[in-house]
Amino acid sequence: MSKIYQVTGIGLNEKNLQLQETIFHNANGYIGVRGTLEEGVPADFDTMRGMYINGFYDIAPMKQAEKLCNLVEDKESMLNVADTQTIEVSFDGQKFSMADDADCRYVRTLDMEKGITRREVDWSNKEGKQLHFNITRMASFEERSLFTIDYCFQSIDFSGTVEIHSRHLGLVRNYFNPKDPRLAGESHNHLKKEDVHICESGACLVSSTVESHLKVASAVANIVTVNQKRQPSEVVTYDETAHAMDVSYRFDIRPGDEVRIIKYSIFTDSIREEDCRNVADEKLSKVVEQGIASYYKKQQEYLKEFWNNSSMEIVGDRDLNESLCFNMYQLLQSAGYDGYSSIAAKGLSGEGYEGHYFWDTEMYVLPVFIYTESELAKQLLNYRYDTLNQARDRAKILGHEKGALYPWRTINGEEASTYFPLGTAQYHVNADIAYAFKLYLDITGDDKFLVDEAAEVLVETARVWADVGCFAECKDNKYCICAVTGPDEYNAIVDNNFYTNLMARENIRDAKWALEKMKEIDKDAYDALVKKIDFKEEEIDYWDRIIENMYFPYDEKMQIYPQDDGFLMRKPWDESKIPEEKRHLLYENYHPLFVYRQKMAKQADAILGMLLHSNYFTNEELKRNYDFYQTVTLHHSSLSTCIFGILASQIGYDDEAYKYFSQSARMDLDDIHNNFYAGIHAANMAGTWQGIVFGFAGVRSNA
Ligand code: BGC
Repeated sequence: MSKIYQVTGIGLNEKNLQLQETIFHNANGYIGVRGTLEEGVPADFDTMRGMYINGFYDIAPMKQAEKLCNLVEDKESMLNVADTQTIEVSFDGQKFSMADDADCRYVRTLDMEKGITRREVDWSNKEGKQLHFNITRMASFEERSLFTIDYCFQSIDFSGTVEIHSRHLGLVRNYFNPKDPRLAGESHNHLKKEDVHICESGACLVSSTVESHLKVASAVANIVTVNQKRQPSEVVTYDETAHAMDVSYRFDIRPGDEVRIIKYSIFTDSIREEDCRNVADEKLSKVVEQGIASYYKKQQEYLKEFWNNSSMEIVGDRDLNESLCFNMYQLLQSAGYDGYSSIAAKGLSGEGYEGHYFWDTEMYVLPVFIYTESELAKQLLNYRYDTLNQARDRAKILGHEKGALYPWRTINGEEASTYFPLGTAQYHVNADIAYAFKLYLDITGDDKFLVDEAAEVLVETARVWADVGCFAECKDNKYCICAVTGPDEYNAIVDNNFYTNLMARENIRDAKWALEKMKEIDKDAYDALVKKIDFKEEEIDYWDRIIENMYFPYDEKMQIYPQDDGFLMRKPWDESKIPEEKRHLLYENYHPLFVYRQKMAKQADAILGMLLHSNYFTNEELKRNYDFYQTVTLHHSSLSTCIFGILASQIGYDDEAYKYFSQSARMDLDDIHNNFYAGIHAANMAGTWQGIVFGFAGVRSNA
């Protein structure tokens, strides 16, 4: 099966530009580079020119409408860290720009076996002289700090002078779009100049962040050849105000001549390397010495191994195959692999949701990696373990004396959600993380991980569940959890969200299981943990009561589990009253209270809980609930259709399963949610894989 995705076109088209920047971005779990054009675009074109490092952020103040107690007052954002992409080439003074040749034909390619992107352009200058450009970019999996641009052009019939400027900017800003709430509201100056120096192979710029006091180093080397003969640089300048290097070359070419600029960029940061400046220099020397060809080879080898574990094929459907491959590749590109980072909702492909990590990782992406790349999965879990202390602090802020409460959205482990009803109130993130730890343990049998990390996470998350609710007399002394938001963001601050209660109960069960198992396999470690977290045996008795008495909303008449206590009381949703252009953007067009009062759901909620724990429900129950939620779910979140598709497979609704699966699979390549420009939808991409494995193939770990 071909692992190549291609787009062809003529001229520069602003409408496609940002979509192509997302499709053709290069990432390797550490760095992500948007597929922007080296030469830039006309000033009035909208472009998101970004280079990101997974987990690298700055902090900006966040205004709350009212200064209520313990609301979040600042938040992290993933930063655009530098711009090493710029390469400008002029031919007798005319700069190469696709905008200046309306007839130029181009082909853009994503080669997922080679791990590269390529842009080929047939371009004519104002005199009608032709040149062919072939530009290959790679974010290396072998050396994750490395991003390369292999910029080649050949003169077909041009004779004259070529001038090249290869630029490197150390002070850049994030993209700003006031119309999109998923992007940062203001464009701050997050970087300041630290250091510039010439190193053995090129030049290195170091910048630091204004608030988080982190450092990022970017080191760049250029190798320019004409017909394979090395060209010396003409002038090297440093602009102090812009913190920018410019290396220029000038020479004459004739028809048939081939010019190649290999630009190596190395990124390092002070989160991973205290001395990121020197590490960048050393790495740059190493990669230049090894040469680009060796990195191309290693990239292909790495991907061969990856596809051996992860390739899937649907016989006879080209479009679906194309998207299966694309989606899986994007997951790999997005995944933090070093314990310092996770998977942002948009991967490393754009600035949507500011590079934040959500429950998307644990509930959608991690199951994929647990089955296909368990080492990678473990690193993603390590990231949560490493931020357990921040989660403990967070629990205290929310009034829980014991335990840990993970943030709804974050980069460094601290809560970064702006609007608490749709953020902090989503306590289910705790149970989602616990679910992923348990799934990893079940599938891998990694007892060492249970002892070293997982048990602690399972217990600390469970403790918050044991504190957040109570046995309510009015509900037959069942355990109720009030004032939370479930996964569905169109019903906020509800009582007894079905999904939350179900997942909380399982979280507690798993914590109990983890402690018992740990006691059995490593009593010393068990004792040490009990001491460390001051765990009391009585806590287990209380957990047992909760497990037995968890409350679930149930409607006798309809024989379904409503999403929460109030769900069925809400106003029936009448979409005909909503103008078509506003239907998919309810929060952009209506007050939140208008949204919360309607009997409808943005995304899979109760259904997701039933799917994950389908062993507790009869097939009839699953069908009845599916049929009901089918009528009230709007699928305005990209995390929804894949879940409906998997459950549809389970209950034998095959046509619907295939319909939902196909929508999920094509969601990004067909830009169904109309926001692909800001980045991929990583959770849904994982949902495509789940649709095949958990849906059509029916794989379950708890059957
Ligand atoms: C969804 C959330 C999701 C977030 C990031 C929102 O639109 O409602 O469930 O976590 O996007 O993908």
